[in-house]
Amino acid sequence: MLVIVKESYDAMSKEAAKIVADRLRKKPNLVLGLATGSTPLGLYKELIRMHKEEGLDFSKVTTFNLDEYIGLPPEHDQSYHFFMWENLFKHINIDARFVHVPMGMAKDVDAFCDWYETRMKECGGVDLQILGIGANGHIAFNEPGSSLGSRTRIKTLTGTTRLDNARFFKTAEEVPKYAITMGVGTIMDAKELILLANKASKADAIKAAVEGPITAMCPASIIQLHQKAYAIVDKDASAKLTGLYNDSWESKTF
Ligand code: PGA
Repeated sequence: MLVIVKESYDAMSKEAAKIVADRLRKKPNLVLGLATGSTPLGLYKELIRMHKEEGLDFSKVTTFNLDEYIGLPPEHDQSYHFFMWENLFKHINIDARFVHVPMGMAKDVDAFCDWYETRMKECGGVDLQILGIGANGHIAFNEPGSSLGSRTRIKTLTGTTRLDNARFFKTAEEVPKYAITMGVGTIMDAKELILLANKASKADAIKAAVEGPITAMCPASIIQLHQKAYAIVDKDASAKLTGLYNDSWESKTF
């Protein structure tokens, strides 16, 4: 794993954007795995800037999002569909036909999950997957205890995750109880991973993910087994790490 510690959230976001842009310039039809949440917002802002000012071209890109709440229609302002269009897709030249976000309103959720897995394979697999991390070590909605070999499926959200996300809803009860999420095994199939984390509230999770034992109790720790994973964190999120780490993606020492 290449751990990169940056001074600030802004520097963390720009570092990740440089990797995404590099891969996209090398492969215009990149298959990009995307994440929601507050962490990747700076990355998306920088990608939008690169599109507008440097002509970064997304016209041939295919995307797959990690997860979506069950029961929220795409137009709901807390759905991950809505989030992705508001914060990235509508600002770049992506082709809507190439965008995939799990369908929270799917009538047959299991059949949808199988289709999502098949569709990723048909597109050649995810080239580069962006990940956030929960304070409890989750990746996507793979909560502690999730099978490290799991595939796209329905998951029950933990109380902590629902509380963490309650800030986006009018009341805590409104936070959906279930989600469709790529599995840990699905995420590990991506050819490259970028795990992002900022803020002191993520320091314990980053310590467990990067330097702790590989355990289902910290699903993010599985990325220690990935051939090409970057963990890009700001100073606050790195506070509990004890190893010596890099300051640039160009060091390429996994
Ligand atoms: P956050 O969420 O980016 O809003 O902190 C990350 C996550 O829960 O995966």
